[in-house]
Amino acid sequence: MTVLTDIGQLATCPPDTGGVGLVDRAALVWDAGRVVWAGPETELPDRFADAPRQSAGGRLVVPGLVDCHTHVVHAGDRSDEFVARIEGTPYLEVARRGGGILKTVRATRAASDEVLEASARQRLVVMLRQGVTTVEAKSGYGLTVADEIRTLRVVQRLADSGPQRIVGTLLAAHVVPPEFADDRAGYVRQIVDEMIPVVASEKLAAFVDVFVEEGAYTPGEARTIFEAARAHGLGAKLHGDQLSDTGGGALAAEVGAASADHLECVSADGIVAMAEAGVVAVSLPIATLVLGQEPMPARRLLDAGVRVAVATDFNPGSAPSASLPLALWLSCTRQRMTPAEALRGATTEAARALALTDGTGSLVPDAPADFAVFDAPSLDAWLAGWDTRPAVRTVIGGETAWESEGMGTGG
Ligand code: NIG
Ligand code: FE
Repeated sequence: MTVLTDIGQLATCPPDTGGVGLVDRAALVWDAGRVVWAGPETELPDRFADAPRQSAGGRLVVPGLVDCHTHVVHAGDRSDEFVARIEGTPYLEVARRGGGILKTVRATRAASDEVLEASARQRLVVMLRQGVTTVEAKSGYGLTVADEIRTLRVVQRLADSGPQRIVGTLLAAHVVPPEFADDRAGYVRQIVDEMIPVVASEKLAAFVDVFVEEGAYTPGEARTIFEAARAHGLGAKLHGDQLSDTGGGALAAEVGAASADHLECVSADGIVAMAEAGVVAVSLPIATLVLGQEPMPARRLLDAGVRVAVATDFNPGSAPSASLPLALWLSCTRQRMTPAEALRGATTEAARALALTDGTGSLVPDAPADFAVFDAPSLDAWLAGWDTRPAVRTVIGGETAWESEGMGTGG
């Protein structure tokens, strides 16, 4: 049992309400990895009087952040594309010339399992320092049966070794591999007949994702893949309406997807369909910024009753940043999400986008004791500015997984 006192502001983010449950001058109690009590310090029950205490030093405490959309496992470098875009070559044109996603595919296929695992592990440490305790990790840079499966085995090893909680997603339908340029249906069959059954039986992923876009996959191909996913007990997610309106929002609603991600170009009908079906919209404002687009209309989605999550989309091309706090700050500044809506987007709504029902993303009794301490007096003060300072401390299952030097929280 441990009691954290002197919390300047605590965000409990209860799962089923709209708010973030802010408590000033709060205390948090956990035992055996789970939250036991959270509330105003003045109301701390006497039964915790003898438990060991730690101090948050008057700082902000939030649930461990959940990054529900990343491409953290990959190899290679795409800085040439960064420069090309600055010089005026659009993202899709880079892709047409064989760069873009396919460049990362070549590098990932050539990399050993050890290199893939070690580089992903380093990136997860960067995330941990920013308070991120749960991470979704997609395949999608292998695009062969063997390379997609081995990517997800790397994801599984990352999950087994911790400290973060990792959720795997099969994104074999990212782009069409060059070997199947003239036989798209043949590759879709491989996904359906050879990848999904193995992924399901070995529990290598919880979701199947499809990039629905011109130059990637059609809604019809996506339906075939999602049908197979459902038959094998895997959830659906899609990269949709990113560069054009391809009916991604409506398709996500039709197939009962847990989330539709990107949605910069989502239609009014798509928004209504998502609201009715309860599909979470995952906003990826770093990718939008990098590609010079107008962001997902998060305000319109929220006002229509759609739950909005926020994630990094961390990848070497369109979103080369592992900073979820940066994505939150962009949601506030560019999409008019309030700090409370942004924080929900990276906690409870992100957990919902991953179908996590164990309380992840909340600091309420029985939820995992996953939380982050930031050096700010309040949520508003934390998100009013963006800087590269790490979290003071990141705790997963009640254990300190990261603590910044010189910022000791007492004992
Ligand atoms: O989410 N939209 C498709 N896929 C990724 C891009 C990955 C890449 O550029 O390597 C995305 O933005
Ligand atoms: Fe993505």
